[in-house]
Amino acid sequence: MSSFINTSIGKKFLISITGLFLISFLAVHLTGNLFLLAGQESFNLVAHFMATDRVISFMEPLLAVGFLLHIVFTAYLTITNQFKRPQKFAKVDHRQTSSWPSQNMFVLGGLIFIFLVLHLSNFWYQMQFGEMDYILYGDIWVQDAYSLVTGKFIIWWYVLIYVAGAVFLGLHLLHGFKSAFFSLGLYNKVWGGRLMLIGAIYSIIITVGFSLIPVYFLIGHLTG
Ligand code: HEM
Repeated sequence: MSSFINTSIGKKFLISITGLFLISFLAVHLTGNLFLLAGQESFNLVAHFMATDRVISFMEPLLAVGFLLHIVFTAYLTITNQFKRPQKFAKVDHRQTSSWPSQNMFVLGGLIFIFLVLHLSNFWYQMQFGEMDYILYGDIWVQDAYSLVTGKFIIWWYVLIYVAGAVFLGLHLLHGFKSAFFSLGLYNKVWGGRLMLIGAIYSIIITVGFSLIPVYFLIGHLTG
């Protein structure tokens, strides 16, 4: 197993598997976050369920490991490929054969990483270790995650960072989605076009969905 991981194909395989795992996390995360639009009680109860459910709690450390492996192996492969690239041969102009996101996956990944550090320190860290307000629903006390999130989304530059993060994420997924299937050998003539379409639709949903939430609260604040 470790000798397989040591090959470039092994690393590509791991990047694809962790990438697909992160793609499915985003779908769950966006679905949970959309409950913000349904109001304070709905979102707080969903956030409480996510924080206390056994399966989801089990997935959290796996998610962290998935992110870490995805970043470490991508960085390793990108840097070693840079050194391996033959200089003597005629230069190929990749701009004519590949898309902008596919040439800039590493840069986009880096920008998403910076976004994630800011995001986790403001939301995740605050909910795990910070001082939070609690609200009683029925007979359970629940963290007021809604006020934490919406309190941030009335700051215009904060909303701008979230929209930029969602756009970087969408561009990263636009290439990453099909590339993951390609590396796993699942990208054939029949499924090539379909996977490209599914990837494009998924990327748009992620970008629009994650942008819509902060923009909705900022507009509500400015007009309300
Ligand atoms: C509208 C945009 C977003 C909102 C409102 C939001 C909200 C939140 C909240 C409230 C938490 C803390 C949950 C807890 O500790 O129980 C969280 C955690 C997290 N978010 Fe986001 N998020 C957004 C966008 C994103 C994006 C774009 C990414 C990925 C690039 C992301 C990745 C994560 C990760 C990895 C965690 C930690 C795992 C977890 O607690 O589920 N989030 N988010």
